[in-house]
Amino acid sequence: LHPQWNWNRGGLVMTRHFLRDDDISPAEQAEILALAAEVKADRFGRRPLEGPETVAVIFDKSSTRTRVSFAVGIADMGGTPLIISTASSQLGGKETPADTARVLERMVAAIVWRTYGQDGLEEMAKDTTVPVINALSDDFHPCQLLADLFTIQEKRGDLAGTVVCFSGDGGSNMAQSYLLACATAGMHIRIACPEEFSPRPDVVADADAIAASTGGSVTVGTNPDELVSGAHVVVTDTWVSMGKEAEKVERVKTFTPYQVNQALMAKADPEAMFLHCLPADRGFEVDQAVIDGPQSAIWDESENRLHAQKALMLWLLQRA
Ligand code: CP
Repeated sequence: LHPQWNWNRGGLVMTRHFLRDDDISPAEQAEILALAAEVKADRFGRRPLEGPETVAVIFDKSSTRTRVSFAVGIADMGGTPLIISTASSQLGGKETPADTARVLERMVAAIVWRTYGQDGLEEMAKDTTVPVINALSDDFHPCQLLADLFTIQEKRGDLAGTVVCFSGDGGSNMAQSYLLACATAGMHIRIACPEEFSPRPDVVADADAIAASTGGSVTVGTNPDELVSGAHVVVTDTWVSMGKEAEKVERVKTFTPYQVNQALMAKADPEAMFLHCLPADRGFEVDQAVIDGPQSAIWDESENRLHAQKALMLWLLQRA
């Protein structure tokens, strides 16, 4: 967890950050998902950023969904989004994350950052008096997972006991976030991936430890046909994450047996839903018949970024 006591707004407060999916406990995850349902039902009902207060949203990498959903969500809650491109700021070689945070925390209510290394986020959050939110790093994409779990909950009800199969790059930020977030929710997460693209052992160990206390389970293997059997949710993500473009040809060869297609979906539960965080490469990690077919919930998933992140900010700001 990343809690810290700080002097802020004239008092001693606990600042919470959201850098990885296991920064929140099972009860806190459930609380945030319940808040997401509340803000979805009453979009302009909660205005913790009234003032308006500003939230800095920083991008080292390109984005459509994350940029728009944070900007709209901050505005919905009475605040002003300040979208910063790293290339046009002093961050990114010219100024450290720690010094950037010391400047920003005096002016903004929260810092949202899409970056490369998790260590940069850790540095940004250390001793910082306002919440820092990971908007995607090389290791994790926890905001996406709040939206995905919210989508699954909307369609299935209880998360606990739900079987999820992620087929593709097991070492990707999405797969690693799926491990931690599903374990936290008491779900059964199965990762189907080539052995050389397995999740990091420490992330699997952390997910295992959480699952032991929530009733969930964690399975990592190489056979997608076996691991998808009876799954209630089938998920994949691009085979060529940002920064891996030079490896595309080799990756397509390696990951082709892990494509989510109609044959794979037929082995899942008959009511299984398909999720993908987008953007998608149709014909590669997923075929068109699945992503644009009746089992796909990708557009609800995409919209739910807005509601889930508003819930997260609301929850974090209540403590800031
Ligand atoms: N899923 C996701 O993070 O989308 P963007 O890269 O468009 O923000």
